[in-house]
Amino acid sequence: MAYQEKIRKRSVLADLIILAGTVAYDSMGLKTFGFGFGREDIWGPEIDTYWGSEKEWLARSEERYDDLDDPSTLENPLAATHMGLIYVNPEGVNGVPGPQKTADQIRETFARMAMNDEETAALTCGGHTVGKTHGRGAVDNIGVAPEAAGLEEQGLGWSNPGQDGKATNAFTSGIEGAWTTHPTTFDMGFFDMLFGHEWHQVKSPAGAWQWEPVEIKEEDKPVDPTDPSVRHNPIMTDADMAMKVDPIYNEYCQKFMADPEYFRDTFARAWFKLTHRDMGPRANYLGPDVPKEDLIWQDPVPAGNTNYDVAAVKAKIAASGLSNEDLITTAWDSARTYRGSDMRGGANGARIRLAPQKDWVGNEPDRLAKVLAVLEPIAAEAGASVADVIVLGGNVGVENAIKAAGFSVEVPFASGRGDATDEMTDAASFSVLEPISDGFRNWQKQEYAVSQKK
Ligand code: HEM
Repeated sequence: MAYQEKIRKRSVLADLIILAGTVAYDSMGLKTFGFGFGREDIWGPEIDTYWGSEKEWLARSEERYDDLDDPSTLENPLAATHMGLIYVNPEGVNGVPGPQKTADQIRETFARMAMNDEETAALTCGGHTVGKTHGRGAVDNIGVAPEAAGLEEQGLGWSNPGQDGKATNAFTSGIEGAWTTHPTTFDMGFFDMLFGHEWHQVKSPAGAWQWEPVEIKEEDKPVDPTDPSVRHNPIMTDADMAMKVDPIYNEYCQKFMADPEYFRDTFARAWFKLTHRDMGPRANYLGPDVPKEDLIWQDPVPAGNTNYDVAAVKAKIAASGLSNEDLITTAWDSARTYRGSDMRGGANGARIRLAPQKDWVGNEPDRLAKVLAVLEPIAAEAGASVADVIVLGGNVGVENAIKAAGFSVEVPFASGRGDATDEMTDAASFSVLEPISDGFRNWQKQEYAVSQKK
């Protein structure tokens, strides 16, 4: 089916939102890295999503950290620092400016989205190379948040009865101002601004903390979005200041400034990752702009062989001396890492043979090594992938166990999984898939105490 037909058959608001963002960067002069259609829309709230234990938006961060000074103690699997934000508080930790502390939180938050320091610096600096923040006017003038507004106001941002709420008067974060001299051009303006000036803390018209230059030439100030005859001070959020103050982010910024082409490419790739990472394997991407290159965060898996004698492989497994328990446990362990939210993990690729999965306590490394030592030669001899043979082993175990109970069942099987290599595996990003409990074994990695509060 031609991709146009496939797209026409889907509801693709999710695709269009991401495409619009990508086209926006394109239109402002960035050569974007590519785009894939293929997302799905949902039509109701996802009631199984855990957003945190807080009962109100922007509750203090202490609610989700054991120790707020140690960002690694952020409750798993959360990544944002507050209920209601996607990254960190733009004014500073709990709304108190302090760029180094904000940098430490950014590092943890972005790592939990599989972004390394270089990608994080590129995303923050590149993201804020264009656009502006919105907080002109007193906070008392605005009405309810978008999701609490009436049906007729949905999709129009914060209700803003005191003003028209458009353009200059749009109100969102409460921080007010653009980052660069030319906020509709993807240029090096963010770095010129951040590193070319000293910054001090001021309050926005809405009372939010932001940073403004101590001194700046009139012609370097961004013009008003609707009245080009008026210029305003540029701003930085605490998260932007973090890019200058934190030594590691600073080093990446220096690298970007020395090589603008490298910056553009790094940002374009990181933007592509940010907007495609939850789509699962590359095979799910549709359309003419899908990049040809395999990217490590896509967890690439080579195509597997389907042309081998499945019955003969099953017979060899059955005669191998491995117990039903060994076979079923290994197949289960290889499959259970699969998660629906971003389609990572699972049996395909047989990454259970590779670091870090082969060493996870929940995979019983000694037993796993023993089982693999038997299954791998069987796979090699048959021309099947180890991934297929592990799953087939599970089927053999289940069928044998059923037979021992006096019944006969053949478990269906589809061949064609491939085997990934270490080079195809972003080992660090797999740590988030580690099982911490296992109902099949009645096992948990550590004793958890459930706090009364939660
Ligand atoms: C370090 C984490 C980040 C923080 C704390 C942050 C914070 C903010 C804030 C407070 C605003 C202003 C919202 C408003 O008042 O309308 C904003 C706007 C914006 N951000 Fe970020 N951001 C972060 C990362 C990113 C990333 C990763 C991107 C994209 C790659 C991005 C792209 C943008 C853009 C384009 C705007 C302007 C929107 C407009 O013009 O209406 N930001 N950000």
